[in-house]
Amino acid sequence: MTDPKRYFVRSYGCQMNVYDAERMEELLGDAGMTRAATQDDADVVVLNTCHIREKAAEKVYSEIGRIKKAAAERGWKPVVAVAGCVAQAEGEEIARRAPDVGVIVGPQAYHRLPQMVERAASGQRSVDTDLPTLEKFKALGQRRRAAPSSFLTIQEGCDKFCTYCVVPYTRGAEVSRDADTVLEEAHRLAEAGARELVLLGQNVNAYRDARGTGFADLIRRVADVPGISRIRYTTSHPADMTDELISAHGEIEALMPYLHLPVQSGSDRVLKAMNRSHSAESYVETIEALRRVRPDMAISGDFIVGFPGETDAEFEATLEIVRRTGYAQAYSFKYSPRPGTPAATMGDQIAEEVKTERLARLQALLNEQQLAFNEGTRGVTCDVLAERNGRRPGQLLGKSPWLQSVHFSADGASVGDIVEVRIDTAGPNSLSGLRTDRKAA
Ligand code: SAH
Ligand code: SF4
Ligand code: F3S
Repeated sequence: MTDPKRYFVRSYGCQMNVYDAERMEELLGDAGMTRAATQDDADVVVLNTCHIREKAAEKVYSEIGRIKKAAAERGWKPVVAVAGCVAQAEGEEIARRAPDVGVIVGPQAYHRLPQMVERAASGQRSVDTDLPTLEKFKALGQRRRAAPSSFLTIQEGCDKFCTYCVVPYTRGAEVSRDADTVLEEAHRLAEAGARELVLLGQNVNAYRDARGTGFADLIRRVADVPGISRIRYTTSHPADMTDELISAHGEIEALMPYLHLPVQSGSDRVLKAMNRSHSAESYVETIEALRRVRPDMAISGDFIVGFPGETDAEFEATLEIVRRTGYAQAYSFKYSPRPGTPAATMGDQIAEEVKTERLARLQALLNEQQLAFNEGTRGVTCDVLAERNGRRPGQLLGKSPWLQSVHFSADGASVGDIVEVRIDTAGPNSLSGLRTDRKAA
């Protein structure tokens, strides 16, 4: 095949990968290609991979196998591109094990994707796992499409080196985009229909550009962009929650009262072994300070159970920090040894059954808290940003300020509107209510 026309990008992992996937689609679109309806119809399939936990690479190989098999049945030979963090971490091995993969491109080099695809279509494989800082942003085009809530990557990479984590190796060192280029992209996204911007970075609150613009300043400038009514950011590190940023939560109206602030463990010994550079107590103090300036602040977190050496008492400390914090939402994982990270070779790895049992106990508590949080918003009237059509006709699905999914009857509103809704029912994963800014017909 010499002239690929239809692409399909499949993304795994975090929101930064979702952002990257959108940009890849724009690049392929600019190169004259269109989006295929399904993966099996595509001339180019991009797997934008994640390497954070185990079996990531195995999933990629089995997906490559599936694509090849489906294509062969139809006498088709699509270009398969592996992008993202598995490409970065295991590019050479993919090249060896999957000779049919035509493009291997890391997260910092995908601005060259169209040229690489073209070469692959003419039978030449391309591999690019360079980590050139920020070069990709200069090479990316302008935003044309924007969802009501759109992602905007402002910072990439991580210098924290938590001992369990692959991200510093797959995404490279911390770099912040220049505030002016971030603002330019924010304006474009607003013009294309975004009402909410989610500022993204592996350590987004470590943001500081070459001219010294800090994160709180950047948020203020984004809040001034016409059309942008809501701002969120993710993921932040507890050690980078400065006083200035905490104050900003009490001052900037557009900054939504929801923060994803991973703590990982409630035990100071485990936190130290994880190289987290914060303590359980300093985390709780940060949350308290946030709630002083913004009393309705909803908190979300990430947890790892079964880190090497974690005792029963240390796990109990994690349950305790969950009780003290009170989470609106959370993600929790069994510790997964990642090749090349210090924790993978630590002694005293925890047995699988113990991890399973601890995860179940932690998740039961977190689920209980999530339901209680949702029930606590019953009867509350709040702004909801309509993000898409609901399942039933005439229904819209949107987000509350606290990032809960809210179903409501459109009653004249459309996707992209911010309307006032009174919450009537609350379930574990979503709410529903009625518009109060308009009399029902
Ligand atoms: N930069 C962010 C997110 C990193 S990855 C942060 O620092 O919070 C998202 C989550 O995956 C982490 O917060 C952690 O809870 C989890 N995670 C990372 N590596 C892991 C591993 N080896 N095993 C299990 N969970 C892991
Ligand atoms: Fe990974 Fe830690 Fe960096 Fe987050 S802060 S990306 S968990 S090394
Ligand atoms: Fe996964 Fe890479 Fe994100 S490893 S979590 S896709 S930074």
